[in-house]
Amino acid sequence: MEPVLEVKDLNISLKEGCNTYKAVENVSFSIGKGQTLGIIGESGSGKSLTCMAILGLLPADVWDYDAEIVLNGKSLPFRDNKAMRGYRGTDIALIMQNPMSAFNPVMTIKRHFEETLAAHKNWNKNQIKAAALEMLSQMRIKNPETVYNSYPFQCSGGMLQRIMIALAVIMEPSVLIADEPTTALDLTVQFEIIKLINQMRKKYNTSVVIVSHDLNVIAGIADEIAVMYSGFIVEQAPAEEVLNSPLHPYTAGLFRSRPSYSKERLSEISGQPLSLKQRNSMCMFSERCPLKGEGCSNFEMLAHKVSDDHFVRCCAKEMTKTSA
Ligand SMILES: Nc1ncnc2c1ncn2[C@@H]1O[C@H](COP(=O)(O)OP(=O)(O)OP(=O)(O)O)[C@@H](O)[C@H]1O
Ligand SMILES: [Mg+2]
Repeated sequence: MEPVLEVKDLNISLKEGCNTYKAVENVSFSIGKGQTLGIIGESGSGKSLTCMAILGLLPADVWDYDAEIVLNGKSLPFRDNKAMRGYRGTDIALIMQNPMSAFNPVMTIKRHFEETLAAHKNWNKNQIKAAALEMLSQMRIKNPETVYNSYPFQCSGGMLQRIMIALAVIMEPSVLIADEPTTALDLTVQFEIIKLINQMRKKYNTSVVIVSHDLNVIAGIADEIAVMYSGFIVEQAPAEEVLNSPLHPYTAGLFRSRPSYSKERLSEISGQPLSLKQRNSMCMFSERCPLKGEGCSNFEMLAHKVSDDHFVRCCAKEMTKTSA
């Protein structure tokens, strides 16, 4: 299958005076039409930076970054903010981590739709309203007309998240990036939102990148899973393979700390990830790793292929059948 989005060798560094600190390293992935990639990892692993970089949204005075990003066979000019405006929303849309910050508090929901659509479609206000109300209904908003005329502060968090999805998919983008679309929502609303994203994906054959630190969210929706740790994808494979036989000790640790309905105590991954300034090119999980052996502290985070579509960045012998 031809990939819709390809990210090749994404590297992002934080600039501070004369120094730079690596925040994301050698991240590569691709997604086919209608497919979902789940990116999982704990706080600070570089998930949001990766999403923002794809859309060219990282400020150049703070971040240095490089990659080849190909959308529908064409290289994205992610450094050119003006050129990127033509792609954002229409070809590739972002659902942000915090719905409240994505809305302008002094603009009604109606104005948000009008501004989004006026920039890309030659529709009059009635056409915009009809399309927006239809989309809000698809998002199971019961009183779309009232919501359309409301201000963001009059809507609940779950409702704003639905409106944000509606604003993102109304342009029928080829790629939808959902960065923690369910954080701060209660459990029943979380699953409703995930279901809606999945329904939209099926309806419009959208390719979806969904980011979460919650394995249960990713497990239900992803075709492929990428596990991030300290700026690296440490394991990537088809979802079933990662879920049934996680290989990287960090992935395995994440799974063990996943809440279930049993009464067993959850295990935790002890220790803390390194901050950007403490990082180096050696295995950054080694200090927390239960499988740490000789050589781990000197292991550069190289990718080892376990099979054609499964790789890990770990030197523990039982995981590495062949080197990439
Ligand atoms: N503006 C900034 N200035 C300095 N460091 C930053 C800035 N934004 C992010 N970072 C650092 O970059 C790293 C990656 O951040 P990022 O926001 O991508 O993490 P994340 O995986 O999305 O985490 P979370 O799950 O908390 O959203 C973190 O160590 C973070 O502290
Ligand atoms: Mg984030």
